[in-house]
Formats: sequence, C-alpha cells, structure tokens
Amino acid sequence: MKRAMIPYCARDEFDFVFVDADKPNYIKYHEILVKLVKVGGLIGYDNTLWFKCVALPDEEVPEYMMKNRNALKELNSYLASDARIEI
Ligand SMILES: C[S@@+](CC[C@H](N)C(=O)[O-])C[C@H]1O[C@@H](n2cnc3c(N)ncnc32)[C@H](O)[C@@H]1O
Repeated sequence: MKRAMIPYCARDEFDFVFVDADKPNYIKYHEILVKLVKVGGLIGYDNTLWFKCVALPDEEVPEYMMKNRNALKELNSYLASDARIEI
C-alpha cells in the first residue's frame, strides 16, 4: 500500500481490506488501516502462518523464510495484544 493512494483525510471509509504485500511492513499498514476501516469492518492479512513457519522453532525454518516468518510472528503478537480489534 502506498500512502499516496490513501485520501488525506480518509477515515472510517472501508468495510473490508485485504493486505497481501511486503510482510515486514504489515504492522505499519495495520496502524493505517485501523483508522480507515469502519468499526465492525474486516481486515484480512495474507500469510499470517507463513507456511506453518510461525509455529516452528528457529532451527527448523529455512533461512530464506526467516525474514517474513519473523515479521509475521511479530504481527501476530501485535494483533493479539491490540485492544482495538477482535481476532
Ligand atoms: C503476492 S503479491 C499479491 C498479489 C495480490 N494479492 C493480487 O491478487 O494481485 C504481493 C504484491 O505486493 C506488492 N508489494 C510488495 N511490497 C510492496 C510495497 N512496499 N508497497 C506496495 N506494494 C508492495 C508486490 O508488487 C506484489 O504485487
């Protein structure tokens, strides 16, 4: 998502958003989206299990999967502790 694509004063505009982009920025997108999505709306994040890697110990995660796996683990924890949303 490019910030320039978001109307400057947009707020509570969307019923549903699906995020499928660069995983390390998902938390930044979340902070934008909680303002843009209506109360009762839905935000979907692709790949939150990252091909089950989020549940594997570090040593079992292939190196090339690690960057996104760590970003998605961080996202999952962030969302789980975000009192503004329900999961
Ligand atoms: C796996 S594809 C998603 C495809 C999409 N779900 C669709 O059906 O067209 C990931 C997409 O995220 C885009 N992307 C990756 N990083 C991005 C960024 N920083 N800002 C905007 N788009 C990004 C890529 O260009 C790519 O099109």
